[in-house]
Order: sequence, then C-alpha cells, then structure tokens
Amino acid sequence: MKRPTSLTLRLTFLFSAVAAVVLLTFGWVIERSLAEHFAREDGKEIKIIAQTVKRTLSTLQADHDLTHIKQRFTDMLVGHHDALLLITDAAGQRLYSSPGPDLSLIPQPSGGLQQGVLQQWSDGKHNYRVFIQQVTGRGDDLYTLVIAVAIDFHLHFLTGFRHTLWLMIVCGILVISVMGWFVVRHGHRPLHNIIDRISHISANELNTRLTPETLPAELTELALSFNELLQRLEQAFSQLTNFSADIAHELRTPVTNLMTQTQVALSQTRNAEEYQEILYSNIEEYERMAQMIGDMLFLAKADNVRHTPNTEAVDLKSEIANLFDYYGAWAEECHVSLTLDGNAQVQGDSLMLRRALSNLLSNAIRHTPASYSVEVKLSDDGNDVIIVVQNPGTPISAEHLGKIFDRFYRTDPSRQRSGEGAGLGLAIVKSIVEAHGGTIVATSDETSTQFRIILPGPADRSS
Ligand SMILES: Nc1ncnc2c1ncn2[C@@H]1O[C@H](COP(=O)(O)OP(=O)(O)OP(=O)(O)O)[C@@H](O)[C@H]1O
Ligand SMILES: [Mg+2]
Repeated sequence: MKRPTSLTLRLTFLFSAVAAVVLLTFGWVIERSLAEHFAREDGKEIKIIAQTVKRTLSTLQADHDLTHIKQRFTDMLVGHHDALLLITDAAGQRLYSSPGPDLSLIPQPSGGLQQGVLQQWSDGKHNYRVFIQQVTGRGDDLYTLVIAVAIDFHLHFLTGFRHTLWLMIVCGILVISVMGWFVVRHGHRPLHNIIDRISHISANELNTRLTPETLPAELTELALSFNELLQRLEQAFSQLTNFSADIAHELRTPVTNLMTQTQVALSQTRNAEEYQEILYSNIEEYERMAQMIGDMLFLAKADNVRHTPNTEAVDLKSEIANLFDYYGAWAEECHVSLTLDGNAQVQGDSLMLRRALSNLLSNAIRHTPASYSVEVKLSDDGNDVIIVVQNPGTPISAEHLGKIFDRFYRTDPSRQRSGEGAGLGLAIVKSIVEAHGGTIVATSDETSTQFRIILPGPADRSS
C-alpha cells in the first residue's frame, strides 16, 4: 500500500496553493485595473480631440483654402502627445491627414461608425488606440474622423509592471511556502514531544501516563485514548505476571507434598502394602495437578481463540439433563436436589458450553446446604438466550463478587491448598462465555447466589 504523503508536506503544499491563488488573483486584479485606467485616460484624450475637430469642422467656411484648413488641424494636435488625425469627406476625399502612418489602413469597426468605437491598432512599429466616428460638419456635410493616440508608452509601462508583479508573486509564493514549512513543523512540535515520550515507555513503566491538559485541544483525544490503552495494557500485563506467580505457587504445594511423602517412604524399608498405600495417596495429588494443568492449558487456548471455531446448534436443555445425570450421585450424597426449568438453543461449541455449565453446577452443588436445591433456568427472549444457575447458601460478599472470575481466586482463603479447587473454574466459565460473544454476571444475597449467562441467540450469531 502506498504510504500517505507526510503531514508537513501536505500542509505546506495546501498553504502554498492558497497563497498562490490569493496572490495571483490579486496580481490579476491590479493589472486589469491599471490597463483599464490607461484605456480610460486614452479614451478621454481622444474624446477631447474629437470634440475640438467637430467644432472646427462646423465653423469651416467654404472659401477656406486647403492650406489654411490643414494648418488649423495641425495646430490643434500640437497639445496632444503623439496624436494622429485623418478626416475624409463623404466622397472619401482626404480633408486632412496628419504626418506619419496611414490611418486609412485601419479596418472599419464592426459596431458601426455612428456611435464611435475605441479599438487598438498597430502599424507594425507602434501601437495606437483608435477612435473612428462619423460627424456632420457645416451644412449637412458628412465627415469620417479617425483619431489615433500612441500607447507604446503605456504598454511598455504595463509590461514592465507585469514583470515586476509576477516576479514579486513568485517570490511571495516561495517565501510563504518556506515559512509555511517552518510554521507547520513548529506546530507539530507537541506531536513530536508525545512521540518522544511514548518511545521511552518500556514494559516496566506501563504506569506512565501522558498529560492531556498540557497538550493542544486536537491532541487531547489522542492522549486520552493512549492513556486508556496503557491502562488496559498495564492491567493485562500485571494479570499475566500474577498468573505466572500463581501457577508457580499452586504447583509448589502438591510437588512439596509428593516430595515429602516420597522422602518419608524412603526413610525406611516398607512392605508392599505400605508402598501401595503411598502410591494411591500420590495419585490424588497427581490428579489434582493434572486437572489444574489441564485447566490452565484450556484457559491459555481460550485466550488465543477469540471466537469459537465450532459452531453447532446446542440444545441446552438436554446438555443440562446430561449434567444432572452425571452429578446426580454426588448431589444425592450431599442431599441437594437439582431442578431444571425452561428450554433454549444456542449456536456454539457444545464441548466448551458443557464445560462451563459443569463448572457452574459443581460450584453450586458444593455450596448448597443439605436439603436445598440447585435451580437452572433457561429462557430465550428472541434476541438473547439466558441461562441462570442459582443456589441458596452463604452469600458471596461484595468484596469477593468482583473477583471470583479472576484466575486462582477463591473466596475462602482457609480452603486454599487444602485441596477443593484451584480457583480456575469461574475463570474458565467466563472465557468460554466471552468466546461465544456473551456475558456473565454473578449476584449474591441472603436467599441465593445466582450466575446469569447471556448468550446471543441463534439468529444473532448466524447474521
Ligand atoms: N455457587 C456458589 N456459591 C457460593 N460461592 C461460590 C459459588 N460459586 C463459586 N463460588 C466461590 O467463588 C470462588 C471461585 O470459584 P471457582 O469455581 O473459580 O473456583 P473453585 O471452585 O474454588 O476451584 P475450581 O473450580 O478451579 O475447582 C470459589 O472459591 C467459591 O468460594
Ligand atoms: Mg469451581
């Protein structure tokens, strides 16, 4: 995948583009208004000449000789810089023509002669602004006036001005681009500071936090999210660290027991029966250890698999009925009855679900006082499947309730290591439920302790 352009470059480019558009528009407007100003000035001068010519024509006497007439027009042009004049009568005869380029070569304007039109013309050497109009002189004689004023000076000035202007604009854009680059880099400094801080966080400094209040508003969200991420990492990291410590701790006890028993056994010669007895007692420890190792392996696997690979339709009612059969003898021994109510189906891994339900049931049976009963209720509200396992007994206090799903957590410390369980049962239940996209909550009061599992219904999972 192509790497996106650097932010500094992108912002500098946008900055320069905006500057270019503004400066170019500015330059164009200045140049246009200057050109229009010159055109207006030329027009004014031409109009003055036209009016004087008209006045002169209307006072022309029939008996004026040609030399006199020419002299009058030549005098008239004296005050106007580089002005040319051609007057022809209706028959096309030249009444007056100023020295210089032949103005009769100028094409007639398309707008008609009556109104008089300003146009630009070049004789090859010089540029002129030209005005052609028909006027009536003394009597009803019709004359055509062609007045031209040289505009080389103006055009020259405009060209020079344009060059300077464009040069300034190009320099301006360059300066703004360079400055923009510095400004953007400077503006990114808080970001570089954050990167610097983040790059120095090591695994044993996960308690470091960024300080959003010292950062610009745009970076506050980033800092907050990063802090949350750090918090989650810190939690997971410490959980993992505790987990390893717990494992070592849990395994040490049975191994020490086995070692002591073996040492005692070896301290003197014994008969076959005694050895057999010792081996039987060892088997119990081995079984407990095997169970714990199996549970830990299962948890490690469940941690890696976010979603259950095997999804099949699981009939919860028959699963629980099977578990009731399995635990029937033990429950009877404890004088605990088992009841099942309702019916539900989910999509999931039947082995994993069976394990979760089995862990909940074994806990419940263990904690139910004699002559009471463990109740399992199944329901399906269309969206979710709800499984409730509840039993009466000593309530779990609020302090423990939040932690019973943690690995190796047991509410009764005195029972630790005495051998009932490792405290992994509920952690396994939780990870199985989460792998199925569900949630589990525990509540406990004087009347009963309740575990409520909410799993997405079959419709949800297939979509
Ligand atoms: N139904 C229940 N009633 C009262 N307390 C319970 C109930 N279920 C669990 N607990 C408490 O929660 C703690 C954690 O249970 P969990 O199943 O994780 O561990 P365990 O049963 O001690 O060991 P394991 O299940 O690994 O053999 C237990 O120590 C127990 O005190
Ligand atoms: Mg248990």
